[in-house]
Amino acid sequence: MNVIVVGGTGLIGRALTRGLLSRGHRVTVLTRRVTPGSPMPALKFLQWDGRTSHGWVQAVDEADEVVNLVGKSLNSWPWTAAKKDQFRSSRVVPGSAIVAALARAEKRPRAVLQVSGVGYYGSQEDPVDESASPGEDQIARLVVDWERSTQAVEEYGARQIVTRLGIVLTRAGGILPIMALPFRLYAGGPLGAGRQWVSWIHVEDLVSAMLFLLENPDAQGVYNLSAPGPVTNAQFGRSLARALNRPYWFQTPAWALRLVLGEMSMMVLKGQPVLPARLTKAGFQFRYPDIDSALEQIYSQPGSRYLLLEG
Ligand SMILES: NC(=O)c1ccc[n+]([C@@H]2O[C@H](COP(=O)([O-])OP(=O)(O)OC[C@H]3O[C@@H](n4cnc5c(N)ncnc54)[C@H](OP(=O)(O)O)[C@@H]3O)[C@@H](O)[C@H]2O)c1
Repeated sequence: MNVIVVGGTGLIGRALTRGLLSRGHRVTVLTRRVTPGSPMPALKFLQWDGRTSHGWVQAVDEADEVVNLVGKSLNSWPWTAAKKDQFRSSRVVPGSAIVAALARAEKRPRAVLQVSGVGYYGSQEDPVDESASPGEDQIARLVVDWERSTQAVEEYGARQIVTRLGIVLTRAGGILPIMALPFRLYAGGPLGAGRQWVSWIHVEDLVSAMLFLLENPDAQGVYNLSAPGPVTNAQFGRSLARALNRPYWFQTPAWALRLVLGEMSMMVLKGQPVLPARLTKAGFQFRYPDIDSALEQIYSQPGSRYLLLEG
């Protein structure tokens, strides 16, 4: 397969690109900052403006699949009004650009894989699968618009595959190193009451699941990419403490998180238990279905070996 990975320079993009290359696929990474040279012939970097189809329609003509990973990270404190605009525009505008590129292309890809998040479901107490309705908080509303931004690719004959990700667990970046920091400093414990749900996925399973969907000609529609064993914040913290060989004792009160993080505190104080119903039904097997096996694997890797794996 010849795959365009839009936003392929980021945490997930680097891991996915490595996975695609290791299976013999060719990858074109679309980025706003091309650094000259490529380490291997099967990997190309192509510059774009992040907003339009200008300059990369020809790459679409040659692509079998497009993966859209673009989006300004929500782990960006503080959530000012300007920042919230960027969260939205950095997702919706590139999505429209992908539709425009397909509209202008002479030959269309078979599928567009649109990344999304389990924040779609809002705050939930009971397990939800892909059939659940969207939540009503600001993240859920943003995610609905994000997913819709590439929906029109279907008008051009490409299947839209939407992957709603739980938090991606890797030592290479994202939320896990931030969550692990207080534990490393012997001050780990529940955030707030610790009863809020955490849906998560090990980065290896994430890459395998994306490859599984990209290589499956019947994959279409929404798939939750989160492990079958969502946990509460307290269960997550206890598991993290065990994996790091640190105590679990210091509760950070919800009011303190709200005071320090403001609106961003909803990222850690609210959650949802999400089940990967469609992925499981399609026959995908998780290598790390429970949190203990995932965190043990992540923290048992020597740093240098892990860096080799993750960049
Ligand atoms: N990591 C997680 O736990 C997680 C969970 C759920 C959903 N997600 C979503 O998955 C996607 C990828 O996550 P990630 O962790 O790999 O993020 P990341 O490391 O921040 O990478 C995102 C990429 O998007 C591109 N980008 C950012 N802002 C842009 C803009 N305004 N216009 C065009 N391109 C822009 C950047 O590429 P260039 O700078 O090279 O152009 C960047 O490499 C994000 O949309 C994220 O919200 C991630």
